Amino acid sequence: MRLAAERIDWTIHGHKLLDDVSLVVEPGETFGLIGPNGSGKTTLLRVLAGLRKPKIGRVLVDGLPMNRMRRRDIAQSISFVEQQAETLDRIEVREAVALGRTPFLSPLRSWSDQDDAIVSQALDDVGMHHLAGRLWHTLSGGERQRVHIARALAQQPRVLLLDEPTNHLDIRHQLSILQLVRQLPVTVVIALHDLNQAMDCDRIGVMDAGRLVDIGTPRQVLTAERLRRTFGVHVDILDDPIDHSRIMRFRNAV
Ligand SMILES: Nc1ncnc2c1ncn2[C@@H]1O[C@H](COP(=O)(O)OP(=O)(O)O)[C@@H](O)[C@H]1O
Ligand SMILES: [Mg+2]
Repeated sequence: MRLAAERIDWTIHGHKLLDDVSLVVEPGETFGLIGPNGSGKTTLLRVLAGLRKPKIGRVLVDGLPMNRMRRRDIAQSISFVEQQAETLDRIEVREAVALGRTPFLSPLRSWSDQDDAIVSQALDDVGMHHLAGRLWHTLSGGERQRVHIARALAQQPRVLLLDEPTNHLDIRHQLSILQLVRQLPVTVVIALHDLNQAMDCDRIGVMDAGRLVDIGTPRQVLTAERLRRTFGVHVDILDDPIDHSRIMRFRNAV
């Protein structure tokens, strides 16, 4: 599914949070969003998810303007894992993941074995099967995050939006979630804090003060000049002697 933003502006209290943002994410692409705190990554993801409706500019889903799509149709194709995900008290992990199936249920289409299988697969994918019967509020931050990702996967979206999904995770789960996300045959837009993780995306967009200031492959975008200008850090880009991948070492630019 192709996701496009066309000239999006988003202003609140006279403060421009998104400034003329245009972007096309191709079907199956993993697109990373990076930028300093407050640069507009979350705001852009919320617009792409249909949670914020821009007055200027529009979002297109496979060429169709999102503002003409029904809520349910959007939910059947796009799922969003928010940064500060809401708490769901007194609910078991499996039920929380099962919520991802909601857009597909109706009086004519009740819960089926197939939904059960999809929920089980999603729990497996994030390594949470063993905790399926646990109550949500007893989970750690990282476990909750994995449940949220499982809920999004159970939605079987064609577009998956993730807002800094690895923040609460230990290194092993960070790597496994990123690997999982990259392997999914869906269009992914993922805001990432860790620039080394961003290097594994197909393309990267750089947000700076509400503007998308750069877009391209990780090698095109993650240059010493860009990191100095946008993040205010000095970077040494090193070549891994084993596989010639890039290693970035950061220092404060003073
Ligand atoms: N509802 C709001 N009202 C006023 N300012 C907001 C609101 N939401 C976000 N902001 C501000 O918009 C800017 C961009 O925020 P955000 O999109 O969350 O950035 P990021 O995700 O890149 O850290 C920040 O300066 C933030 O404080
Ligand atoms: Mg954010």
